[in-house]
Amino acid sequence: MSRVRVAVLISGRGSNLQSLIDAAKAPDYPAEIALVVSNKQDAAGLQVARDAGVLTKVISHKVFGSREAFDRAIDAALREAKIGLVAEAGFMRIHSEWFAKTWEGKALNIHPSLLPLFPGIRVHQQALDAGVKESGCTVHFIVAELDSGPTILQAAVPVLLGDTAETLAARILMEEHRIYPEALKLVAQGKVKLDGGRAVFL
Ligand code: GRF
Repeated sequence: MSRVRVAVLISGRGSNLQSLIDAAKAPDYPAEIALVVSNKQDAAGLQVARDAGVLTKVISHKVFGSREAFDRAIDAALREAKIGLVAEAGFMRIHSEWFAKTWEGKALNIHPSLLPLFPGIRVHQQALDAGVKESGCTVHFIVAELDSGPTILQAAVPVLLGDTAETLAARILMEEHRIYPEALKLVAQGKVKLDGGRAVFL
């Protein structure tokens, strides 16, 4: 079985990265985690990658004059590693339109809310402030606009009385770790495609 080579883009902890690495250990998983790119030298997720023997690369956004210049450096690293799909997991940079177009249909992101509700940052506090009874997570294809793009999978969890941003985040994170590997699998198998601005299940 030929497996799709996946790059995971991170900026921090790397727990979603870990869930993808774990899923990809299964012999019948259709993707392999071949590269981890971080824009931060001190991202804890880099150690997650190293522990799993995955190639890592740090590309700091700070040395580039524009979003697109940074994105072109990432793109070069992806091409050098013969990457077929990109999975972003806590990658805290907004992409240029150029990157979104170049990797259209081949780049995924996970966001800890039921998009289109609560894009951006302080997501769990946004959910608590809004008083919603459910929140969750979304895996979506990346488009130029932040935290939007066709949904591949979502999972909902209840918001409980007394929840703090931390307790809600922890409940949602468990679902993130379940649906991200599942969504990546569907895309790697060609069972979901971006078509006409929608995620189409085949
Ligand atoms: C996750 O909640 C993800 O949905 C969001 O950032 C967090 C990253 O966590 N985009 P981790 O680095 O995967 O542990």
